[in-house]
Amino acid sequence: MPDGHSAERDLLQKWNHDVTAWESLTVAQREQVIGRAKADSTELSNKPADSPVARNDQDTFGKIFRRNMPYGTVTDHGTMFVGFSADQQRLEAMLESMAGVTGGVRDALTRYTRPLTGAYYFVPSTESLRRISSE
Ligand code: HEM
Repeated sequence: MPDGHSAERDLLQKWNHDVTAWESLTVAQREQVIGRAKADSTELSNKPADSPVARNDQDTFGKIFRRNMPYGTVTDHGTMFVGFSADQQRLEAMLESMAGVTGGVRDALTRYTRPLTGAYYFVPSTESLRRISSE
């Protein structure tokens, strides 16, 4: 790209959960990892520094659009993470923060789930697809 930005800026990753390690935690320990109460999903008032919200603060890194889609069976499962952004750097910075490369704190989630795949793609906007199809 002439402006130095990558055209492939949307992230797709397959994460596999360590079911045994997660199930061996108490509910209180899981709540600390997620940063929310299990019963009613309310945010914990004192979120740990290694919770996902603390590691991926969008006020710091910029906004992204994200979805997690579960896959698998009872014993072998995980999530397909997809993150859309106009700027690949935001997703890259979030991954570095989750891994503890920047900030020095590893996201607690990464102790219970690990990425098996990961790649950036270019997903055209609806507007540009409409434009092309009407040409
Ligand atoms: C197994 C994979 C992942 C799981 C299970 C997961 C889980 C979570 C959870 C539980 C939250 C807190 C949501 C809330 O309390 O409202 C969160 C927030 C977030 N995650 Fe993830 N996440 C995963 C991967 C990723 C990846 C790969 C990225 C980006 C590269 C990411 C970006 C974010 C962002 C931006 C937030 C919101 C932070 C904010 O409040 O501004 N996540 N995630």
